[in-house]
Amino acid sequence: MTTDKSQQDQVLIFDTTLRDGEQSPGATMTHDEKLEIASLLDEMGVDIIEAGFPIASEGDFKAVSEIAKRSRNSVICGLARAQFGDIDRCWEAVKHAARPRIHTFIGTSPLHRAIPNLTQDEMAERIHETVSHARNLCDNVQWSPMDATRTEHDYLCRVVEIAIKAGATTINIPDTVGYTAPRESADLIRMLLERVPGADEIVFATHCHNDLGMATANALAAVEAGARQIECTINGLGERAGNTALEEVVMALKVRNDIMPFRTGIDTKKLIHISRRVATVSGFPVQYNKAIVGKNAFAHESGIHQDGMLKNAETFEIMRPEDIGLSETNLVMGKHSGRAALRAKLAELGFELADNQLKDVFVRFKALADRKKEVYEDDLLALMRDSGSDPANERIQVKFLRVICGTEAPQSADLTLTIDGVDKQITAQGDGPVDATFNAVKALFPHSARLQLYQVHAVTEGTDAQATVSVRMEEDGKIVHGEAADTDTVVASAKAYVNALNRLLVRREKSKPGDDVKTVSYKDVS
Ligand code: KIV
Ligand code: ZN
Repeated sequence: MTTDKSQQDQVLIFDTTLRDGEQSPGATMTHDEKLEIASLLDEMGVDIIEAGFPIASEGDFKAVSEIAKRSRNSVICGLARAQFGDIDRCWEAVKHAARPRIHTFIGTSPLHRAIPNLTQDEMAERIHETVSHARNLCDNVQWSPMDATRTEHDYLCRVVEIAIKAGATTINIPDTVGYTAPRESADLIRMLLERVPGADEIVFATHCHNDLGMATANALAAVEAGARQIECTINGLGERAGNTALEEVVMALKVRNDIMPFRTGIDTKKLIHISRRVATVSGFPVQYNKAIVGKNAFAHESGIHQDGMLKNAETFEIMRPEDIGLSETNLVMGKHSGRAALRAKLAELGFELADNQLKDVFVRFKALADRKKEVYEDDLLALMRDSGSDPANERIQVKFLRVICGTEAPQSADLTLTIDGVDKQITAQGDGPVDATFNAVKALFPHSARLQLYQVHAVTEGTDAQATVSVRMEEDGKIVHGEAADTDTVVASAKAYVNALNRLLVRREKSKPGDDVKTVSYKDVS
């Protein structure tokens, strides 16, 4: 076993937060948010960024092109179905990157073959044609047999061989429905390496979904069997139960390098920041007990644990909080802290602010510190989430809110919204202060969007803690989320609702007639 890291085999990290992750219902990100996440992934050392699915919409195309133009080190990849039009559109978007990649795929299992109604031979022919077409455009081509783990082995070997001969340089083996288990995941890669001619000349990738909670274990098992690229997302974001979590595989390879001697190029100190940014922009909060990046992952509550930790941190900690970018103390500052201290603390949390941005955040920080004695890192993160720098916040704003609530009905909300620069006021009643507030928003800005989710989290402890409110809304099949924080839960609720409405307006704007590309799902393979 090699202990010298530089001698160890490298496992490439392929991040698909912006494609598979963004496909989860409700996780839609704005253009600017996608650019920001891509730049964080690039800085963190991700080898390949799957930036989107260019044929899916004009918005996806623009995001992939812009990410490609701005890329520094990472390979920029786009997804394309097994159709010439998809592949051409994908190339148009990724070609701007210093290191572009086309990723094309088709479902090869019996269930997936039945959808386009292709025989095994017809599908084999389609794979040959489309991979060759992609390879004529780009010398870095990835091919995926979707639902590989439920594809007959003989047919899988046959089509992988065809894709390699047609010029694929990476073959990805997706466990599309999260059905496989670690031993099977390893056996499949081993079988392909043994049986497919030319398999030793390409890179095998593993792409796992977490429906049975085994995505991380399955990916690591595939690596032990010979895969050298892991496809994953930040926080395990992804359709249904999500994808393999980037932070989990990377930290597992680092912490258990004694039994899994592989290296990655990831700067693990950047993990916590990117995890928080993805949680914020996707609207999918990280569960408290999530491995590596959950709020409790390094918290030690019980007496025995705390005692052990004080004597020797290794008693109960297999990795240090600093390894993922968490600083030791969470207590930050109070109302006497100055602008320089705020700038330094925000920089530590991963936010480099220009002077005008700092000025705005400082005013908001002071207002918060006046209301709350102690301001914690989590409060600052909530403040940054709510800093108003997102243009999606701008068309509708909460100007004034006063509610009457308590044991005696009716509860009511007196609300003023500024809509496109004009103040509008109303008093509405409801079943409780939040319902009254939401009724007031609806009366001032009528809409047909349906509220699907309303969630309140206390950012820190104590009755003066800030509340973060998340809402999810749906209109004509489009889902948007909104989030806001405030020490007053009802104010946070109003702002979160308005934030979601603003995002809805952006979505409506984007899907106005004139988009020349039909919106497709990666599952509409025909
Ligand atoms: O899960 C899957 O099969 C996919 C493919 C498009 C690679 O995401
Ligand atoms: Zn997937």
